[in-house]
Amino acid sequence: MIEWGASGVTLGIETSCDETAAAVVIGGGDIRSSVVASQVDVHATFGGVVPELASRAHLEVLTVVVQRALEEAGLTFQAPEVPAIDAVAATVGPGLVGSLLVGVSEAKALALAWGLPFVGVNHLEGHLFAALLDHRDLPWPLVVLLVSGGHTVLISMEGPGRYRQLGQTLDDAAGEAFDKVARFLGLGYPGGPAIEAAAASGDPQAFAFPRAMLDEGLDLSFSGLKTAVVHAVRRSPEASNADVAASFQQAVVDVLVAKALRGAEDVGAGGLCLAGGVAANELLRASLSAACEELRLPVYVPSLAMCTDNAAMVAAAGWFQLRQRGPSPLDTGAQPNLRLPLLP
Ligand code: KG4
Ligand code: ZN
Repeated sequence: MIEWGASGVTLGIETSCDETAAAVVIGGGDIRSSVVASQVDVHATFGGVVPELASRAHLEVLTVVVQRALEEAGLTFQAPEVPAIDAVAATVGPGLVGSLLVGVSEAKALALAWGLPFVGVNHLEGHLFAALLDHRDLPWPLVVLLVSGGHTVLISMEGPGRYRQLGQTLDDAAGEAFDKVARFLGLGYPGGPAIEAAAASGDPQAFAFPRAMLDEGLDLSFSGLKTAVVHAVRRSPEASNADVAASFQQAVVDVLVAKALRGAEDVGAGGLCLAGGVAANELLRASLSAACEELRLPVYVPSLAMCTDNAAMVAAAGWFQLRQRGPSPLDTGAQPNLRLPLLP
């Protein structure tokens, strides 16, 4: 059982990709504010995230976003007063180095100025906590399917800070596949919601796209599926985007659900949990929930706000990390390739 605690106010900051976010969370689980400024408009015309523009946009809005998160949490203060918080946490990686640097620098500067501990948080660990924030009394081990734009991993979580990796994608992340296929179909960025919207009026059985490695282990692969979509569209140029999107989405979801269930069975999990941006996908949420209900396996699907990038998950992960591993040194830098800390 998680000891959530009732005190300890953490300011969280998230700037690893294309959302500038700040949040105030008490005791690792009580969200007092969560402000997210999306950069979708900045990158939409380019069909994807432009790293240089992302870091500039973070720089422009981060201070205001932090101020708003403090205000919404009722923590107004007049400098040189210090707001009533106990720690400042920020994502240090993985992510875009220029974007990470903006959040890490701001968080360290605030921690130094306010005389508070700084906590450098792993973005993936943040996503794991996001899934837990909406729920309490979780059964361990919990198998978490973490599906984002940069990562697709199946984790067995034995408690906060205790992770075993069961499987991962051998090539593209699931979100990356959504984004690439959306771009190929001319559906725009971000690709996940665009595919989902197009798929709503399509036939998921119109194309028999491959389900790679469906019957093998717990690793995944999506690059062959992406190529199959390209070939199918070139062969049948008259095919509707709706049918292609629906068939592609069904193939991704079939594989994700099968792997998550197999992972849960392998470790005798007490429950199954979704995390990351792709967890916002309705078909994935509904299919996994239905499959788990059939197996009478508890399933935890986070709210939509907790699927995509936000800073509440960073504050929550930061609070647990501070209690378990202490503060991070102030010379901690951005770590674009940071990996999830795994049990030996
Ligand atoms: O977790 P996230 O916000 O950022 C990363 O850490 O990567 O995930 C972003 C990814 C993008 O690839 C986006 O296309 C995908 O999540 N995504 C979705 C949906 N909403 C966002 N994929 C499928 N269906 C959605 N509704
Ligand atoms: Zn993310």
